[in-house]
Amino acid sequence: MVFASLALALLGYQLPAPRRHASSPRARSLFASLDADGSEVMPSAPALSLLSPAKVNLFLRILRRREDGYHELASLFQAVSLFDRLDFWERPGAAGPSMEVTDDSVCAALIPTDERNLVMRALQIFAERSGDARPIHCRLHKVIPAQAGMGGGSGDAATALHAANRLCGFPVSQETLIEWGAELGSDIGFFLSRGTAFCTGRGELIEPLDPLPPAPVYLVKPAEGLSTPGVFKALGLSPNEELPGASPQALLDEFAENVYTATFVNDLEPPAEKVLPMLADLRAELSTLGFRAVMLSGSGTTIFCVGTPRGDVVDTWQDAIRAKFDVEVYEEMFCRRLPDERLWYAEQPEGAKLVDLDDSLSSSQAL
Ligand code: C5P
Repeated sequence: MVFASLALALLGYQLPAPRRHASSPRARSLFASLDADGSEVMPSAPALSLLSPAKVNLFLRILRRREDGYHELASLFQAVSLFDRLDFWERPGAAGPSMEVTDDSVCAALIPTDERNLVMRALQIFAERSGDARPIHCRLHKVIPAQAGMGGGSGDAATALHAANRLCGFPVSQETLIEWGAELGSDIGFFLSRGTAFCTGRGELIEPLDPLPPAPVYLVKPAEGLSTPGVFKALGLSPNEELPGASPQALLDEFAENVYTATFVNDLEPPAEKVLPMLADLRAELSTLGFRAVMLSGSGTTIFCVGTPRGDVVDTWQDAIRAKFDVEVYEEMFCRRLPDERLWYAEQPEGAKLVDLDDSLSSSQAL
């Protein structure tokens, strides 16, 4: 049995703050039953609890608009340690998959729990195609903001695919899960990699790469969100029109050499800043603080900062940014899966040796 919380501690990550989800009335309603004396029986412990990471795009080149309306892209995706939490139960006798969202989730009231939610679609596609249709229930505790360019919904769907496969004894190969994920959304397959991947096509063609060394990354998320289709549209490409820019392979080589000296480029940054001009002001302000890179993630609105700020502002920059902009700041790290397809992010095998994050940081690329 693998405990995500133990693994997180081993990896030096912090668990998301405790969030009352066991006592939330909405979370409890589906499983609560009445005992003989009329008192409520709390739901049994989940069969599986997994943490689902966010992502940033270390570079994102848009190459061309396709005839089908999608854009051909080339991007280096990297998982980061901001996690949603998904609990799973098997529910023998239920008609099919089901899900709920904890009341204290980010924007809980806006998250659908029917087929509009990618988690439900992932559980459904698994039940239809894997040959194992046992009903699975998912309780989603959402931490990653929506419309943020951090792939939160896509990660949840990938986590649900992995969870269903794991609960059923791994009947489906990783490659097939990636294919099913691609049918649901362009970014889902990425999360089935080990946390670093070069993605092409509309984002669904995955070349898993060796994980990058741990690096500090600050995620600065404005209160306003942006819709992905809207930002692609603001790029203004005609069908088949190409967007010139740096060669993706050259960018990839730079990142393989050293994350801290590589070129960070995101072709969706100009259109996102056109749609939401405050993003340019926020990025300009963050760029004065001494980070190695400051860039929009995906279609935004999260701006991520790689490395550490200058010593003279290290204790003050977050308050200063919050005083000027309506933003949340998350202090995170690049994260990864171990090379064992049966384990998910932030998990380690039982009995794994303690990993000291400070040691692994100092032995990684120099800041
Ligand atoms: O595939 P996904 O559902 O994540 O894409 C959402 C929308 O973003 C698409 O409907 C499309 O408008 C836009 N998109 C795009 N090119 C991509 C990925 C997404 O134009 N490569």
